[in-house]
Amino acid sequence: MFPGRLTDCLNVEDYRRAAKRRAHKMVFDYIDGGSDDEVTRFENHTAFDDYRLAHRVLSGVDKPNMSSTIMGQKIDVPFILSPAAGNRLFHTDGEIGPAKAADSVGTVYCLSTLSSRSIEEIAALTKGPKWFQLYVWNDRVLVKEMLDRAKAAGYTALILTVDFPITGNRERDPKNGFTIPPKLGLKQVWHAMNAPLWSLDYVTKPSVKYANLAEDTSAVSLNEFVAQQLSADFSWDDAEWLLGEWSGPALIKGIARPDDAKRAINTGFQAISLSNHGGRQLDSSLAPIHCVQDVRQAIGSDAELIVDGGIRRGTDVLKALALGADAVSFARPYLYGLAAFGAKGAIQAVQQLQDAVARDMILAGVGSLKALNESYIRRKN
Ligand SMILES: Cc1cc2nc3c(=O)[nH]c(=O)nc-3n(C[C@H](O)[C@H](O)[C@H](O)COP(=O)(O)O)c2cc1C
Repeated sequence: MFPGRLTDCLNVEDYRRAAKRRAHKMVFDYIDGGSDDEVTRFENHTAFDDYRLAHRVLSGVDKPNMSSTIMGQKIDVPFILSPAAGNRLFHTDGEIGPAKAADSVGTVYCLSTLSSRSIEEIAALTKGPKWFQLYVWNDRVLVKEMLDRAKAAGYTALILTVDFPITGNRERDPKNGFTIPPKLGLKQVWHAMNAPLWSLDYVTKPSVKYANLAEDTSAVSLNEFVAQQLSADFSWDDAEWLLGEWSGPALIKGIARPDDAKRAINTGFQAISLSNHGGRQLDSSLAPIHCVQDVRQAIGSDAELIVDGGIRRGTDVLKALALGADAVSFARPYLYGLAAFGAKGAIQAVQQLQDAVARDMILAGVGSLKALNESYIRRKN
């Protein structure tokens, strides 16, 4: 059963099923899929089930304080919106959806380098806080240009994604003949007929492009694009160079190991995002939630730690924070909402997660994020 209306959607899985119904198959699979056997994509979420919460009673909490500060930015909920490429492909609202969704709950929207709305357009759209995510292009002049544009447009922090030297082996994409922008062969036309709302939106609205690049790119697979444009040999020395060019708060995204986390902090990153790109890169890599305690121990209490991947419920957020994270982040929850219902869907999905965290903090008897410590969590068995 597919939830047909926005009001039918009560949780992330509902948006997922609604997105599957509305979107073209290659588009849904691009959002939903992972690499190889999708072990990590699946486990990112199921790993939360390895933990149980030990709630406190009669704690008098009726309005939990969900605010905190990450990289100097006050946020009103303990989550931020992870960067995701090419949102126009999912719905004509594109990155406008998640940018507004983040603003509506008082949190940060992270714009992808590969966004389909430009750095400047998204900056002009909402007053909400924004960070800019960077992949490292072969062309260092382009990197500097992008940093300058992000700074000028008011993005307050940089996210360097480091788990993407090449594209992971995402087998759904070649099976669907997926390219960006899409090429419409026989198979794609057949699937387009099964997705009339998506197809109408796609053919009648402006085409999909990487809006931060000056030139339109030809329709190639993500693998080919990344192999041509991005720098697979990027190293710690280059990361240091980049921090010098940015000279502001910076987060490194894609860390799994305590030694890398420690090195990142020593190199000058202020925050770590434990992430495996939503299971889209190295399959069988560790679920981020399983990395929290070791990494927290390695980097100490001052460095900031974000868990990215598999967050679907308010209780997932509580578990990550109880294990030692400062915040979490996610992409698919808002992407499914966007693909199913446009900006309205992204906004509702994010607001439901806000409500879920508040409800679960009350049920757990936790008055503030600072109070959420290891006493609230147990590893199962
Ligand atoms: C469709 C899609 C596109 C993505 N594009 C980017 C990107 O451009 N840059 C980036 O750093 N991460 C990207 N990611 C990874 C997300 O930022 C995030 O790490 C991951 O999706 C978290 O897992 P979740 O989707 O289970 O929340 C993308 C993820 C998806 C699903």
